[in-house]
Amino acid sequence: MPDHLNPATEGSSGAGGEASEDRPKGTVMPAEMIEVSIDAPQFQVAAANPERVEHGIAVMFMIGLLGFMGFGASYWQNYSNFWLGITLGVGFFGLGVGMVAWGKYLMPRGPFSEARHSAAPTPEEQQAFLTDFTSRGKVAIERRGFLLKLLGAAGGVFTIVAAFPLLRSLGPLPQKLFYRTGWKKHSYLVTFEGRRVHEDDLVKGGVLTVFPPDDIGGALSQTILIRLEDASYGDVVTAPGRKTWGPKGYLAFSKVCTHAGCPVALWQKALDELLCPCHQSIFKVGPGHPADAVFGPAPRPLPQLPLYIDKQGYLRAQAPYNEPVGPGFWERGAD
Ligand code: FES
Repeated sequence: MPDHLNPATEGSSGAGGEASEDRPKGTVMPAEMIEVSIDAPQFQVAAANPERVEHGIAVMFMIGLLGFMGFGASYWQNYSNFWLGITLGVGFFGLGVGMVAWGKYLMPRGPFSEARHSAAPTPEEQQAFLTDFTSRGKVAIERRGFLLKLLGAAGGVFTIVAAFPLLRSLGPLPQKLFYRTGWKKHSYLVTFEGRRVHEDDLVKGGVLTVFPPDDIGGALSQTILIRLEDASYGDVVTAPGRKTWGPKGYLAFSKVCTHAGCPVALWQKALDELLCPCHQSIFKVGPGHPADAVFGPAPRPLPQLPLYIDKQGYLRAQAPYNEPVGPGFWERGAD
């Protein structure tokens, strides 16, 4: 056995015994090809009874495996945080204790000392290092294939369980949901109680939250109907191309704020402005003003619902909204 692998020489000059004394001071000892024997004392494990330790480690890995499986099942079944914490804790505890015990009791003991050599290694020295490194690791790992498999199984189960949030928590893709509301061509405007809104129902300057009959209470369909105070407005044109959208002073806008989606529920009659209570965005309404955002963080006007009044005097939608309602999103405008 080469001296430089012998624990007994640790702390010496690094040149390994008496041979170093023959060399002039300041020279370094050339690297040697190392013959490694797995019977060398420093390759022996620290445990007095390795088999018993192996069993103990296997038990800890099994506990870790069961813990991770329990965590996966608890997560899938939507159990409380208590169970998620307990099972994940048990999983990591078993895995951690097993790995630490493996390193402490079953890996070669060392210490390993080598001769100090030139900082720039020769090809022979590199080869010697590789031989040493691979043979040590190989011996330590190959001897315990069963533990390795258990470690791989525990790690594999944890990896799968860690992917659960992607499969379960994100839910289905929204697809075209953000582009659609419950409004259709000729939808009646109805109240939360389902009553159709007649042109005589609202006082001038009044507002009312309305829905399409098929989606009463719908978060995306909620619409604010406004009857402007000034009767002289007649048909109100808020923007070019919207000549017929506001009959007899009635205007309807999506109630979903274009900033963060709060309901725009406050109407300032004296100023013809809608106010979002969440972050104080203000939307100006009236002739030439299609609920454009004049103050606050809202980036866009509220979408306008085109209206008409039928022969019986009921307010109805000419068509659905012509753009997505609410805040912006990734795919908006992609089509
Ligand atoms: S959600 Fe309306 S201003 Fe922020």
